[in-house]
This record gives sequence, structure tokens and C-alpha cells, in this order.
Amino acid sequence: MSKGHHGAIKTVYALILAVIITGAIVGVATWYFTRPAKANVLEIYHWWTSGGEKAAITALVGVYESKYPDVGVIQSPVSGGAGYVMKALMKSLVLAGEAPDAFQLHAGYEMKPYVDGGYLDPINDLWSGQGWETVFPTVVKDMVKFGGNYYAVPVNIHRVNVVWYNKAVLDAHGISANITTWDAFFAACDKLVAEGMPKPIALGDQGKWAATHVLEQIIASEGIGFYQDFINGKVTSATNTTLRDALTKFSKYLSYVNDNHAALTWDGATALVINGKAAFNIMGDWANGEFLVANKVYGVDYGTFAVPGTEKMYGLCIDCFEHPKGVKHPENSLNWLQVVGSKEGQDAFNPLKGSISARTDADTTKYGPYQQAAIADFKKVTYMYPSVVHGSGMPEAFTAKLDDIMSAFVDNKDVSAAATSLTKAVTDASADFTKVWTLH
Ligand code: BGC
Repeated sequence: MSKGHHGAIKTVYALILAVIITGAIVGVATWYFTRPAKANVLEIYHWWTSGGEKAAITALVGVYESKYPDVGVIQSPVSGGAGYVMKALMKSLVLAGEAPDAFQLHAGYEMKPYVDGGYLDPINDLWSGQGWETVFPTVVKDMVKFGGNYYAVPVNIHRVNVVWYNKAVLDAHGISANITTWDAFFAACDKLVAEGMPKPIALGDQGKWAATHVLEQIIASEGIGFYQDFINGKVTSATNTTLRDALTKFSKYLSYVNDNHAALTWDGATALVINGKAAFNIMGDWANGEFLVANKVYGVDYGTFAVPGTEKMYGLCIDCFEHPKGVKHPENSLNWLQVVGSKEGQDAFNPLKGSISARTDADTTKYGPYQQAAIADFKKVTYMYPSVVHGSGMPEAFTAKLDDIMSAFVDNKDVSAAATSLTKAVTDASADFTKVWTLH
């Protein structure tokens, strides 16, 4: 071997050594800066990353920390509204035996694969020990019980059938917010278009679900009986006139939305309403959290009305946490659940989140005017319906296809094609419709 060759080898060794040493330094430094400050930790996952969502989870974690000061809370937020990114990630973590101590999960069907797969522990003792049976409404309890066992703790009740509006915009155009029909709603949109606001409705369907969220509310507006049939898997004909009517209305709705909707997040769309760049937005009441962090005042800067035709209905979206089997910190997990279900925890979280407490004994003085109205509506509405988009109402075998079908519709507005795909997806998933909903 030549001298030059030895020199080259030496250089390569030196380089490898440098890489190893650098790697070790970086590794130690990363560990140093990211290590939990406390040896005893609680690790939770959620998708609350918008301004209002962050404020709410910070308050809830604050309640936990005040009770368990020795435990370091590791939050692993995964952005992507409605959990469209986190849901898939969580499945793989749980399957790999790497479940965190608790994670955000919707009540209802979304829990089922975890329950069926034996990945969650029943938490009946926690429920009875905390006296929760008497303080959570039946509609909520039913959605977290499988085979007679409780598997999750609800932290809120979100209403999904809400239209948010910018009051100054409506006032400037002399539009009354007393809108109860689709005709009146579209007439208001037409007036705004004619008077210089070409896209009066804000939509942010990055991740697809926010468009499907709108269709879900239009389906509810067709009547509770139709919604019930739909979620029970009974709407299986592509010529169903009610389904086609809902899709036709949705197509009209889409003609008023901002061109960049597919690139916008849900909170980006809410910001368009907050800033007066759009007049309306259909979104769940987590949107209220965005108005609050923007320091907007309900009834002064913004307002709401029920999605036309759903005044007597409350569309439910319920966030929960659960106790995965074999978690690393079982005691911390159970203590977290206790805080999640507590009056104190819920009354710290929900006033900032936009939702109402899932408990019937909430301290209503802690809630702002939108939520005061929502609490009153929750007591007086005639029908409650579980959201499909937010996990509760229909089996995963169906919902896994739903967003793609609707996203194609958003692009091509083809009512027949969407009705065919939707009803086929229902039929294909027929074996998975294990729950019979009775909404009226
Ligand atoms: C969750 C809410 C969340 C919203 C937007 C819904 O599915 O239930 O808690 O704020 O998605 O991310």
C-alpha cells in the first residue's frame, strides 16, 4: 500500500471518529435539553395546537400540575385539525406497544377498534369512585361504554352545527342573523356577493375533514330521521332524493367559499371571519376559542346561529382520554383521567376551549356568553346527534373513506358520483354498523 493510501485511510478514520464524537455530543445535548425536568412523568398526546386549543389544554394541564407537582407532564401535540394526522400515528404507536399514558380520542365508534383489540383497560372503578355516573348525561355515558364497561373519560361537549358570523360585516350590509332556512342563508350570501364580497363563506379544508363537516350538518338539516337513517347505515341507494338534495345544497354552499380553501386550516378559516374577510363559517364550537384569543366579544364582534334547519338539534363532538393497557406510568395516567373528569378540570378547560363541560354540575359563571347560550340550548334542544366526522356516529370502515369521497366532490361537484360512492361505502361497511342509534 502506498503512503498516500495510508494517509487517505487515516483521514477517513478521523472523519468517522469526528462524526461519532459529534453525534455523541449532539445526542447528549439533545437529551439534556429535552429531558423531562422531573424523573416521574405523564405523557399525553392530543391535537390541540391552535391558539384557543393551546390555551385550553394548558389550563387543564395546569390543574393536574397543581395537584401532582412532582410529575413532569410531557405533552406531545400533533397538529392537524380533527386529529387527521394524530389518529393514524396513534394507531401505529398503540399497535407497537408504545401507547402514551393517555391520548385524545373521540367518544363512540372511534374508540371501538381500541376496545375490540384489547388495547384499553376498563375504568369502571374510576367512574364509580368519582361518582361520575350521576353527573354525566346519559347521552355522553352511552358513548364511552362498551359491553357495559367504561373505557374513557369525556372532557367536553362540543356543538358541531354552528354558523359563526362577523357582526360588523352583517351590520354593514343590513343582514339579519336571524337565519333559519338555507334559502335565507344563500340569499344573505348573494347579497354579500352583489355588494362586493365575492366569497362570503370561509372554508379551511386542509386535511379534507372541514368540508365533510359542512356536509354532515347539511345532512342533519334534512331532518333527524334522515340523519338517523344515514348513521345507522340505512341510506344505501344512490338515487335517494334526500341525500341528493343534501349534496346539491353542499355544492351551492361551496360556490361561496374562498378559492384557497384546500390550503387553509380550520383556524385559518375562522381567522377570515374574525378579520371580516368573510362573513360566515360553519365549524364546531372550538372556533369560539379562536374568537376568544383574538379578544373578540360575543354579541359585539361576532355571533352564531344554528346551521339552518338544525335549530332544535345539538350535534355532538366529545373529546375523551382513556387508560391504555400496559402504559409506562399507570398511576399518573389514572390521576390524569381523574383531573380530566373533575369539575375543576372541566371548568378550567372548557371556558377557553369553546365547548361546554361534559358534566351537568359545571360552574356556569366561569363560562362566557356563547357558552352560556350553548349550555341553555343543550338543556332545551329536542334532538342530539353524534358527529360522524368527529368520530362518534359511524364505523371506521365507513369514515376512513368519507373524506376522500367528499374531497372529490369538492373538486367536481358531481352529485351522482358522490351519492354512488357514499352509498357504496355504507354498503361495504355494513357488517361494522354494530350500534343502532335512536335519536328521536
Ligand atoms: C376535536 C376538537 C378540536 C377540533 C379541531 C375536533 O375533532 O374534537 O377538540 O378542537 O377537532 O382540531
